[in-house]
Amino acid sequence: DVWTIAVADQVDSTNTQLLSRANSDGLHGLVLAAELQSAGRGRLGRRWQARLGDCLMFSLLWRFDRGLAELAGLSLAVGLALARVLRQLGAPVELKWPNDVLLDGRKMAGILIELSGDALGPAAVVIGIGINLHEPQGVDQAVAALQSCGVAVSRNRLLALLLNELHVVLTTFEAQGFAPFADEWMAMSAHQDQPVRLSFSHGGPIEGVARGVAENGALLVDTAGGRKIFHVGEVSLRSM
Ligand code: BTN
Repeated sequence: DVWTIAVADQVDSTNTQLLSRANSDGLHGLVLAAELQSAGRGRLGRRWQARLGDCLMFSLLWRFDRGLAELAGLSLAVGLALARVLRQLGAPVELKWPNDVLLDGRKMAGILIELSGDALGPAAVVIGIGINLHEPQGVDQAVAALQSCGVAVSRNRLLALLLNELHVVLTTFEAQGFAPFADEWMAMSAHQDQPVRLSFSHGGPIEGVARGVAENGALLVDTAGGRKIFHVGEVSLRSM
């Protein structure tokens, strides 16, 4: 069995905890789930907040035996693993580049991938996942939950299903990268061939039509100035 699973009542952030373990004795396949996080973190420095029982929150440590030149593709592959499981459960989710899981255009799950150590040597990666099971209080219009599409699943069962699928996907990714997932990813994309607006931390927005993803996970957009390629980290995407 690849997974070693620990469950905590409360931690600052399961990603923070596993990152420190990644730098020391943390085992490949170590999983930490938490009932509550006091300092849950999202992408781009955002916070991730959830009440007790509303959200499945966990992180896992995966030690690749080589350097990870293409982390971008990894985050898309992890999103795909989530979408496969959620669709099997009956939730018609879609993917938003790079790795949000949407239900009716609202965010149902988020993924935060962090790399420990030297990107050139064997890479240890912490993959943090938060999936909303119940609507948050004071309903945020941008947030969706599994409950809202009638799927009732316990957090334990959902975690088990996800870990099985993640094992398959991570093993394939380790051997072949993102390429074998690209077509399936695009078929689940919420924005395929749709007009989108891209915002950047530096510089003005760009508008165009989303044309899917390259074999390394980069986003392809047709703009007035021709086809452009965007990499994770430099840009965020909105429907128009
Ligand atoms: C995002 O969409 O911005 C990513 C959200 C990731 C949240 C999960 S919850 C478990 C793990 N621990 C964290 O602090 N963050 C991730």
